[in-house]
Amino acid sequence: MSKVTVPHTSVVDKSALIGEGTRVWNFVHVRENAEIGKECVLADYVYVGRGVKVGNSVKLENRATVYEGVTIEDKVFVGPHVTFTNDFIPRSFTDWKILQTHVKEGASIGAGTVIVCGATIGEYALIGAGSVVTENIPLHALAYGNPARIRGFVCRCGRKLETQEKKKDCVLMKCPFCREHYTIPVDDYKRIRKEE
Ligand SMILES: CC(C)(COP(=O)(O)OP(=O)(O)OC[C@H]1O[C@@H](n2cnc3c(N)ncnc32)[C@H](O)[C@@H]1OP(=O)(O)O)[C@@H](O)C(=O)NCCC(=O)NCCS
Ligand SMILES: [Zn+2]
Repeated sequence: MSKVTVPHTSVVDKSALIGEGTRVWNFVHVRENAEIGKECVLADYVYVGRGVKVGNSVKLENRATVYEGVTIEDKVFVGPHVTFTNDFIPRSFTDWKILQTHVKEGASIGAGTVIVCGATIGEYALIGAGSVVTENIPLHALAYGNPARIRGFVCRCGRKLETQEKKKDCVLMKCPFCREHYTIPVDDYKRIRKEE
């Protein structure tokens, strides 16, 4: 354990590592061998399972539950009440089998979302509140709903990108707000669903 201050209401296993500048709020539980980076926030009632790896500058909002088998990269936002899962076919009376879930750098997950295990959420993707993620979400995708479907693509700043030009293998997109340009692979772009 590091020098991070842990309030007496929270439990951080002595084998867990927590980086400098990370703030641990009340009623948090960090399990064995979890590794949490620097400058993170673990808000009230957050649960971090055994061996979970969390990068730097990550926000785990109130009651987010991050179970064994989940990896979270730098600058990820995990909204309040987000639930990860780790056993695709759960049974209380047989051994469990952990399926890995990966959240890549800069992605945000809206409040109350459930992530079905095995999914990878790409860099800077944005998942709307109350979604159920059942498949991989490409980088910069905006996805929401149950099941979460891709509705567009977003900038690092979170605003929706506008389509500039469609090419054979990719689509050029631009943020109307900060004017940054992006090249989205055509196979990802084709996954946009306008309506159900
Ligand atoms: C998804 C989100 C980013 C908005 O995306 P958007 O594409 O700009 O959405 P719009 O507001 O233009 O709405 C478009 C449609 O999607 C629907 N919609 C928006 N968010 C939705 C969501 N999370 N789940 C399901 N449907 C949603 C709207 O109702 C609207 O439907 P309609 O066309 O039938 O009227 C936003 O709604 C959201 O969920 N943000 C996350 C908030 C959050 O959890 N923050 C956590 C910190 S507190
Ligand atoms: Zn932008």
